[in-house]
Formats: sequence, structure tokens, C-alpha cells
Amino acid sequence: MASTDPLLQPFQLKHLTLKNRIMSTAHEPAYSEDGMPKDRYRLYHLKKAKGGIAMTMTAGSAITAEDSPAPFGNLHAYKDEIVPWLKRLADDCHAEGCAVMIQLTHLGRRTNWNKADWLPVLAPSPVREPAHRSFPKQAEDWDLDRIVRGYAESAQRMQAAGLDGIELEAYGHLLDQFWSPATNQRTDEYGGSLDNRLRFTGRVLDAIRKAVGADFIVGIRMVADEDWDKGLSREEGVEIARRLVASGAVDFLNIIRGHIETDAALQRVIPITGMRSAPHLDFAGEVRAATKFPVFHAARIADVATARHAVASGKLDMVGMTRAHIADPHIVRKVAAGLEHEIRPCVGATYCLDRIYEGHEALCIHNPATGREATMPHVITRSSGPRQKIVVVGAGPAGLEAARVSGERGHAVILFEAASQPGGQIRLAARGRRRKELIGIADWRSEQLQRLGVELRFNTFADAADVVSLKPDIAIIATGGLPQSPPLAEGEALTVSSWDILSGDAKIAEEVLLYDDNGGHPGMQAAEMIAESGSALEIVSPERFFAPEMGGLNHVSYAEAFHRAGVRITINSRLAAVHREGNKLAAVIGSDYGARTETRLVDQVVVEHGTLPLDDLYFALKEQSTNRGEVDYPAFIAGRPQQIVRNPDGGFRLFRIGDAVASRNIHAAIYDALRLCKEF
Ligand SMILES: Cc1cc2nc3c(=O)[nH]c(=O)nc-3n(C[C@H](O)[C@H](O)[C@H](O)COP(=O)(O)O)c2cc1C
Ligand code: SF4
Repeated sequence: MASTDPLLQPFQLKHLTLKNRIMSTAHEPAYSEDGMPKDRYRLYHLKKAKGGIAMTMTAGSAITAEDSPAPFGNLHAYKDEIVPWLKRLADDCHAEGCAVMIQLTHLGRRTNWNKADWLPVLAPSPVREPAHRSFPKQAEDWDLDRIVRGYAESAQRMQAAGLDGIELEAYGHLLDQFWSPATNQRTDEYGGSLDNRLRFTGRVLDAIRKAVGADFIVGIRMVADEDWDKGLSREEGVEIARRLVASGAVDFLNIIRGHIETDAALQRVIPITGMRSAPHLDFAGEVRAATKFPVFHAARIADVATARHAVASGKLDMVGMTRAHIADPHIVRKVAAGLEHEIRPCVGATYCLDRIYEGHEALCIHNPATGREATMPHVITRSSGPRQKIVVVGAGPAGLEAARVSGERGHAVILFEAASQPGGQIRLAARGRRRKELIGIADWRSEQLQRLGVELRFNTFADAADVVSLKPDIAIIATGGLPQSPPLAEGEALTVSSWDILSGDAKIAEEVLLYDDNGGHPGMQAAEMIAESGSALEIVSPERFFAPEMGGLNHVSYAEAFHRAGVRITINSRLAAVHREGNKLAAVIGSDYGARTETRLVDQVVVEHGTLPLDDLYFALKEQSTNRGEVDYPAFIAGRPQQIVRNPDGGFRLFRIGDAVASRNIHAAIYDALRLCKEF
């Protein structure tokens, strides 16, 4: 019987039948090589196609001209050599019944001049974009002619590659930089009236249509309300949508609300964990009602129920679940099979997006197979070898993943955890008011362990004898770590750790100094908790800016909390020592830049300096194991089986993963576990 699920109904876009209502919107994962979508890129999109998605919008902001240099690995749509790469990607996805489009753009001022061909960045007017810090030149007539040609030729290449269509990016990029009063101060025929501000877009669309014909699908991802006193109003934005529809040049609207010239503004367009679900869905629905035209939209529609509501209520034709697919590319397959509850949840951590702005590739905080499809499986297959007994000690992210993957392989798994509940450091992180959703990382795995029949032994501190007595084939030590103090000349015992604050073990005092010598979430979460308690707080960091291990979108929420509470932030400064002075603590602060020190008198000094491995159990077991704990790194990297034998008389193989090895993060812990255990 055909499904009645609104999400699984087809959608007709011109001649193209999209097989369901779920898509992945444009996002550059920075998997490109030399600006080309090679195998890594292709396999990433192919995985979503195999997972049942109706359409994948490739690239994010594929660039159409040399003077729009790629800020984060964007595809080079202005080069002919892209055609065969995209063709292979499109052919492979088409074979799975998945439509493929691509987002094209000229970034205008939203990029950097000091890379690629070192051409000046341009914009309608010389107004600097704070996020990329370029001072743009005002586009001249010959620039605009050249850029129009670049769009048209790029569109033609996409058609030649067999793509189903293109989408033009018009939020924060060159097209809408002409629309917005905040960025267009021109007095010529491209500035002033709405007609004039739309002139450049009209030229681009005309040229594209001439190049690709009337049938090829051309859409636009457009801001229809900049939500900004200086920017495009809702009235003008919706009017632009109406005019674009009336022009007959576009086939769908992909609606954005907000502006993106700063991290804080971007975060309202792409909300992260702890923020409202689907904040702009109603607005997108209003544009659909006003234009009576196909409307797509994505902004934190992370769960299937909200996506279903978006379609069933008539707000959207196609619902973007972009990060949700980075977390689990098999959403549609699971929905269709009635296995919605098995979807690996997107917890909104936005580790994925923050990484690309820091110059890395997009990776999911808790799905290490994403972007690594060539070596890492999204779906673990059963082992064809003998069933092994695997003992895992520690139910933090590394141990939970090790138990899950080993269970999926069909092995008999016993998981020890000293605490009464699984999660380890995730439980601490989820104590933060805004980061509760992170518990989904542990909860999803716990549910999988139930299904797989993994034996869970909570409230059990396993020692070497406990492990050995079970006669395991493999022992995996995932015992995590405990907070370590930064190097201090004196006074370590007078400090408390960020964990003490997060767990509630230490009562927050009235005047607090928090020294963050790690740069990630634990210190900042403790700081936010202190700031929100009403205590006076100074954050001290030895770095050039606070929390450098965290990307821009996560930074925003902390910065806002600190701003609200009037937190003092001191950079370039190292905590040197702590001593008592009366009933206060004196924190002596030095720096790497000179001998001068300062002293602060406070009631509490909180320190964050990562963790030291809890490795006693590992070392107690090491000499009894066949491999003495050794890991074959080339095999580990390539995802091949571990075969080292150093002690043939040993009773079992021994491995140590996650923070039990060294202080890192959730992704590293889970990746350790996946690449090791998938081969057992
Ligand atoms: C890694 C990453 C890169 C992105 N790059 C682009 C881009 O180049 N162009 C674009 O229009 N949107 C980009 N986005 C935004 C997404 O298309 C989408 O609007 C956003 O992730 C919100 O949808 P979601 O909550 O379903 O993830 C990017 C998102 C991510 C996660
Ligand atoms: S990193 Fe976080 S936001 Fe990004 S896909 Fe994974 S769970 Fe979702």
C-alpha cells in the first residue's frame, strides 16, 4: 500500500518528479580537491541518495568567477574541468533515484582577497563585510558584464554535467548585496529604487536562461527579510519574491530570513543547539502563500515530526534537513521502513559548520562516517568471522560507540560503567542550559545497545581481575580522563575544575576567576553557568581570543551570555599561581609577552586544562594482552583489521580509545571506536 506520510509524497517541479519532500540544501562541506568534486565529494552525496533523499543540492556557493575566491573549499563552477566530476556524481545519484542540483554564486564581498588569484574583492558599494574583513571595490560596468557571463557559462556547465537544475545564492552574496540598502549605496542604474537594485539579478537570470533554455530548472535561494534595521525589509523582500516569480525566470524559491554579515547574525539564520526549532518556517510558509509558488526552506528542522508538519501544513513544498542528513544520511529510508526512532539525531552541535569556517572539512560531532564514506561505514554489517567476546570498560562516547559497533558486528559485548548512567562527559556537557540536546549522542547509542542485546553493567568499577575473569577475546578501555590542572607555581589545591562547576560539586562563589587553558566547550560552559548564576566573573585565557578551539557559531552564544552578564574577558594572560590572602584567593596572572604580573583577589579560581587519561586499568592489562595495547596506525587510518601480536601467550587483544588515551573531543572518541571496532 502506498504511504500516506506527507513527507513521502512526490513533488512535481516542472518536468522533474522529486520522489519525496526531503532535500539537503546547499552546503559546502569542504570535501573538494582543487575546487573539484572528486571521489570524497561524490561518495558523500551518493550516501544520501542511497538513504532515500529526493534531492541533494550540491556545493554550497560554487563560485562562478575568479574574483569570488573560495572561502571554504567551494567548488569552481567557472572551470570546464568540473563537468566530468559532476557528471559522475549526478549519474551515481540518479541511479538511486535522487535528483541533483547545485548552488551557484558570486560571493561579492563575502570572501577574502588574500587567496587564490589575489584579485580584489568587489561589491555593489565599498562596504566591508565584518565576517570576512575584506574592503571591497565598487563593481564597475566591465565587472558586472564579466560576472553575468560567468554565471551563464557556469550554468551551462552544470547543464552539460547532467544536473537537474541550479540554484542561485542570494543571501549575503553579490546578487542580494545589490538588493539590500545595507550594502548598496549606488546612485547609478543599479542603486536606489527596487527596480534598480534588482537590475543586476535580472541580467544574471536573463543570461542564464539564454544559456540553458526555458526547460532547465533554475531556482533561487533568497533572503526575503533581512530582519535588520539597515537591511531589506520583509515588505521589500516578499515583493522581490513576487517579482522573481512574475518574471518567469525562476522555478522555485528557497527562502531565507535574516542576514549573515557577522557570526551573531548568521547564527540566527542557521540556529544551533539550544535555539528554537524551525524559527523561520512560518515565514517561509507566508512567502509560499504570498507567491503561490514552490517554496523550499531549511533552518533547524532537525526532526522528522517538524519536517512532516512543515509539509502537511502547506508551509513548504520541499523541506531541507541538511545537518540532519550530515548526522544520518538514511533518514528517508528509516522513515519509509517505520524506523524513525532509529535515526541518529542531529543534536545541533554545529561542529560541522564551525569546522569549515576554521579552515577544516565538515565533520559531524557523532557520525564519523560522514565525509569518510570511502573508508568508514554508516551502516555496520555483521561479521562473517567467529563471534567474539568483547569487554568494553567505560560508557562515555568512545565506549558507547565501541559497544554499539561491536554489537552490530554480532559479537557478545559486555559494557562496564562506574556511574549509574551512560554518557560520561556528554552528561556534563548536557547539564548546560543550552546544550541539553547533546544527551542525544548517548541516548541514541543506549537505545541501539538495548536492541543489540549488549550486556550493560552500571555502577561497576571494573578492575583488571574483573576483565580477565570474563575471558574476553578483546578488551577495550574507554575509561576517559579526569580534569588536570594547568601548570601553576603554587596553589593547585586551591582551585576547582570546570567539571566541579558543571557537575554542581563546587558551589559557585561570589567573585570568580576562570582560567581556560584548553580553548573548547568545558571551560566556556562552566563560565556561562557562573555568569548566569549572577556571580562576578573574569575569564582569563592565554590565547589571542577566548575559546579558540571552538568555531564562530558556537562562540556566539557564549559571547552573548558573557555580554549579558558583564563578564570581563582577559586574553594573552596565563595564570601563574594561586595563594590565600585573608579570606580571598590571590590569582597571579602573567603572560608570554613580558615579565609583568597582575594579581586578582577573588573568592574562587576555576581552571580548565583538559583531562589526564584514566589509564590504570589499561596498564594493568597491558602485559596480559597479545598486542600489549599496540595499535597498527596505518591499518587504523585505513580502517583495516588490527593484527599485531607481540605477546603470543597473552589472553586477549587490548585497545584504548577516546580520552583514556589523551584529552580530545567527542568526535575523536567516537571515531577511535568506529575505526577500530568495525573490523572486529
Ligand atoms: C557545513 C555547512 C556549509 C554550508 N554552506 C552553505 C552554503 O554554501 N550555501 C548555503 O546556501 N547554505 C549553506 N549552509 C546552510 C545550509 O544550507 C542550511 O541552510 C543550514 O544548515 C540550516 O539547515 P539545517 O538546520 O537543516 O542544517 C551550510 C551548512 C553547513 C552545515
Ligand atoms: S555536528 Fe551537530 S549539528 Fe552538525 S550534523 Fe552533527 S549533530 Fe548535527
